[in-house]
Amino acid sequence: MKFLITGGAGFIGSHLLARLLERGDEVVILDDLSTGSKKNVERFVANSKFSLIEGSMLERPLLAKVMDGVDGLFHLGAALGVKRILERPLESLITNMHGTEVVLEMAAKKKIRTFIASTSEIYGKNPVQPLTENSDRVLGSPLLVRWTYSEAKAIDESLAVIYGQSHGLPFVIGRFFNTVGPRQTGAYGMVLPGFVRSALKGEPLTVYGDGSQSRVFCHVEDAVEGMMSVYFNDKALGDVFNIGGEGEITIKALAELVIEETGSSSTIEMVPYEKAYAKGFEDTMRRIPDTSKIRALTGWKPKNSLQQIIRDVASQMKADS
Ligand SMILES: NC(=O)c1ccc[n+]([C@@H]2O[C@H](COP(=O)([O-])OP(=O)(O)OC[C@H]3O[C@@H](n4cnc5c(N)ncnc54)[C@H](O)[C@@H]3O)[C@@H](O)[C@H]2O)c1
Repeated sequence: MKFLITGGAGFIGSHLLARLLERGDEVVILDDLSTGSKKNVERFVANSKFSLIEGSMLERPLLAKVMDGVDGLFHLGAALGVKRILERPLESLITNMHGTEVVLEMAAKKKIRTFIASTSEIYGKNPVQPLTENSDRVLGSPLLVRWTYSEAKAIDESLAVIYGQSHGLPFVIGRFFNTVGPRQTGAYGMVLPGFVRSALKGEPLTVYGDGSQSRVFCHVEDAVEGMMSVYFNDKALGDVFNIGGEGEITIKALAELVIEETGSSSTIEMVPYEKAYAKGFEDTMRRIPDTSKIRALTGWKPKNSLQQIIRDVASQMKADS
């Protein structure tokens, strides 16, 4: 089969690319390299089944061209990372709303089976945990830029559902919770790569607030398997699935674990939110995925422990330095 991955030079996209090529599929990726990089996919350039088209999914003629002859689509292209969204709010919102609008419109016309990468940010600050696919969205004011990622991704989901109803678009939505692993950049506010990089350099690990906020992390290879398990399952079509790891950990405990796993002499530095982000920033205290729906349908479950994830991230960083 021939697949298109939007955002394929990004973190999750590059792992998905590897997985599809391994299956023997042909893969074209469309990426504007805003947060993704050629380095993420350089080991595949010699593969005749792979091609990278550098450009934006917002460019309709280009998108129409790359979508021509494609059997399947994984739509991962997006602007993400708290830091990036806060620093480039307009560009991020347009990418996340209009980008998906254009991609889904074209996919719907051709009825291309489409995976849409959504996010646990959809649930906002809902205190009722764990979060199931039917959990409510609890968000702060739309005037806070921080929530625009959640807003845009929710509209993306609605668009998919409506294109499914109006045009028969075959789609499946995956809501990724914190996905981590080799090749994730720490540059846009992602916590784990930042911690591992600091630990390897012996620099302090910066924890925002009192560090009691918690998350559940999923190895990117597990997330890719989760994505594949629903994409290739006809019974998953038209539906939405949480894709996340197991084992809740506070950010302070995560910092301690990273120091332990890397054998680092780093210390932990606590920084108040007001100093880290603009006034009015709201963090979500807990984000716990309930993944029973995907497990019941496909049997998928994450395999890698958090310790394994940290080791994999550290060894990739050491190899790259
Ligand atoms: N990593 C996570 O924890 C996580 C969690 C929830 C959801 N997601 C979703 O998964 C998808 C992949 O995220 P990721 O972690 O790999 O991040 P990433 O930033 O590495 O990947 C996004 C990719 O999209 C590309 N891109 C941005 N704007 C584009 C445009 N206009 N045209 C073409 N390409 C464009 C970027 O260059 C990048 O390669 C995103 O849709 C994201 O919202 C990720």
